[in-house]
Amino acid sequence: MTVSPPVVRPLHPGPGSQVDFGAQIDGVNLESLTDEHFAIVRDALYRHHVVVFKNQAKLSPKAQYELTKRFDPAAENYGHGKTLDAKRSILHPDLKTIPHQPQVQVIGNGLIPSYEGLENVQLRHPHHRTFHRDHIPDDRDYDFTRFYRWHIDAALYDLYPPQVTTLLAVNVPKGRRQTLLYDDGTGEELVVPLGTTAFVSGQQMFERLSPADKEFVQTSKVEYAPHPYIWMSSARALPTGLGLHSEGRELPESDLPPIDPRKIMVYPMTWKNPVSGKLALQIHPSAVRRIHCADGSVVDDLSRVRDIVYKLQRPAISPQYVYAHDWEDGDLVLFNNRGVLHSVVGAFKPDEVRLFRQCNLAASEPPAGP
Ligand SMILES: [Fe+2]
Repeated sequence: MTVSPPVVRPLHPGPGSQVDFGAQIDGVNLESLTDEHFAIVRDALYRHHVVVFKNQAKLSPKAQYELTKRFDPAAENYGHGKTLDAKRSILHPDLKTIPHQPQVQVIGNGLIPSYEGLENVQLRHPHHRTFHRDHIPDDRDYDFTRFYRWHIDAALYDLYPPQVTTLLAVNVPKGRRQTLLYDDGTGEELVVPLGTTAFVSGQQMFERLSPADKEFVQTSKVEYAPHPYIWMSSARALPTGLGLHSEGRELPESDLPPIDPRKIMVYPMTWKNPVSGKLALQIHPSAVRRIHCADGSVVDDLSRVRDIVYKLQRPAISPQYVYAHDWEDGDLVLFNNRGVLHSVVGAFKPDEVRLFRQCNLAASEPPAGP
């Protein structure tokens, strides 16, 4: 019997969009993925950054884990390791671990009576109210929304950033759309499907920079705060979800768990794509603490650090560069976590039940710089 090869079709962004990434792959069996088909998936992932597989609702957590691990066979554990156990981490409330496949997390909204060994779990879609300093008024909350938090999936302390993340939509409430507000004085807005996941390309973010900024980001490094998700737990985000206000609310080191200086992460600002060799500007804007410049100087002033990063990143989250995935039941989205930034979006009503599975693995190697 001959098996037809997978078909990779680039997504067609709508009018006015300048999104240059994203593809759909048909004709692969993810439950039992051959080496030959995986090679095609891997090549597509690193060329298109976000790839969508339709009708995967029956995919087992084990197969989701194995697909994720295939990109980094030496990786074993969930991308945040055990740091989610820290109750003070801002990530803690959003994730429930599947007991028989602990690298796979359940996320979503509403009460789930029973799923994959989890019983009566109350899921809560992250709402910008819990992270942004200034909020959309309650009476406009179901019509308008924000980018919750632009990020890379990464612990950014002790563990290396995952190569890829897989997100499976098991159950998606459909119907409504919301208007996403930037609320940063630009007047920019974007109409999005309810509960979309938004992606921007780090490669596009890099390529749009001025020659001077390109030089700067290729020669500078960022240092992340130790235990960043606890460190930032009292700080509050900008209305674009692209980093934090500098109000001195970060926890002092004396209030953090013990810090091992060897576990503090300092990464190049640009990360090299393993297939194309192209550079992506990859900075987690909320967790950044210092900038190490080419001449050996260090920018230590947090407000200044954030301003520098914001000016580099903000142009590339304008509406024409955002891919807002319109989730359908059974969609599996695989994304290049070292080549895109992404954000949760949307405000659900309590009875809008959403069930997703997420998997990523702390990488076996740090990101490669330029
Ligand atoms: Fe994420």
